Amino acid sequence: MTRRTVYIETYGCQMNVSDSELMYGALAREGYDAVDHPIGADVVLVNTCAIRENAEQRVIGRLGELRRDLKVGAVLGVTGCMAQRLGPRLLETDTRVQLVVGPDAYRMLPSLLDGARQGERRVATDFDLEEHYEDVTARRFDGVKAWIPVQRGCDYRCTYCIVPTTRGPERSRRLADVVRETEAVVSQGIHEVILLGQTVNSYHDGTHDFADLLRAVGAVPGLRRLRYTSPHPNDFSDRVIAAMAETPTVCEHVHLPMQSGSTSMLKRMLRRYTREEYLDAVARLRAAIPGLTLTTDIIVGFPGETDAEFEETLSLCREVRFDDAFTFKFSAREGTPATRMPPEWTISPAVMDARYDALVATVRGIARERNLARLGDRLEVLIEKEARKGGELVQGRSRDFKTVLVAGPTSWIGRYLTVELTGTSGATFTGTPVEERRPLPMAG
Ligand code: 5AD
Ligand code: SF4
Repeated sequence: MTRRTVYIETYGCQMNVSDSELMYGALAREGYDAVDHPIGADVVLVNTCAIRENAEQRVIGRLGELRRDLKVGAVLGVTGCMAQRLGPRLLETDTRVQLVVGPDAYRMLPSLLDGARQGERRVATDFDLEEHYEDVTARRFDGVKAWIPVQRGCDYRCTYCIVPTTRGPERSRRLADVVRETEAVVSQGIHEVILLGQTVNSYHDGTHDFADLLRAVGAVPGLRRLRYTSPHPNDFSDRVIAAMAETPTVCEHVHLPMQSGSTSMLKRMLRRYTREEYLDAVARLRAAIPGLTLTTDIIVGFPGETDAEFEETLSLCREVRFDDAFTFKFSAREGTPATRMPPEWTISPAVMDARYDALVATVRGIARERNLARLGDRLEVLIEKEARKGGELVQGRSRDFKTVLVAGPTSWIGRYLTVELTGTSGATFTGTPVEERRPLPMAG
């Protein structure tokens, strides 16, 4: 078999990172070796995100750059959510692009690439509700933690969101398949697993719900940390919360997308919960899991957002006191219900910017206060990688999802250290490894 090389550049969420690992896996068995640079690669794929306009603009710009790096005869393809959303339009806007492949069609990549080498230009964007790539072994590059998709697509219809269009209806993998994949990654020395799904806690494989999944995966021998992302507030049944609380491997952190703190706004977003119901989910989670940290996603400037509604978002942040929040300016996505709202509801850029800045200041202020209160704590930190600053500095995560920088060699990557938190930038921590003072075993 002729060996060829493939480079995949990934944008967007962890689901895309995971899909890229699957694509590398599907191509590896057809004779493609992964390379970490586009220059000289036989195949260059850009795995894209469509969630906001600026994510797409970045990709369009990047495609322009990449075509200059391509060697003669190399195949350039676009995959992921933007491929699904734009389909043939991508072939028209960029004449160098030969393949446009949506998230359910990656199995076809080897044959599509064969065709492309013969000069074909193809679009493959059919949904396949059976597709979980069960027979494909993901090619993982992270040796410390593994993302495992458990669900594809989304059945919620939040009015701002393009995901149901780009990833199709929700479907879950079989519990036994997820457990098997977890066992496989643990046998390769990876002890942290993150279960992935668009609304991961609505997982249901026909027999088992998310509570069953947490208990089953959490009990895999050798697994030390289990996380999941992103849940929907409505799918935190008492069963799921109990499973989380009673499974020791499940980490004490939940990323709980809030989007807005105003019930009227949540209704226009079709989030299907009120401010009070969101607070109730928070209260039930916190009551069940001591030391739980919470992070969230918030959108500002959704159509019709009044000053009072925005204030409710700020006040909900102050009430919950999130450890961190991802904040987004609303971006109108073609075809979503939000684009059909009255034009006079559109929030002006000036108001959007002012609200965004106010939100970021509020969120950061609260995070800083919470983090300052943690100084002196001793936490178990799993060292993940060299810190971006380099210079004998490595970084890791605590079970409750705090980023901690520690002075130490890269040979510590993959180790669990007990670290005392000595400083914080407000968002991340610095820490010093401490000697565990274990009590001496008793004689006799
Ligand atoms: N505009 C801005 N933010 C969005 N998100 C989803 N769709 C949009 C949009 N059209 C945000 C939500 C979601 C996160 C992944 O992206 O907060 O939770
Ligand atoms: Fe989008 Fe809402 Fe589905 Fe999340 S739950 S992917 S925000 S439609």
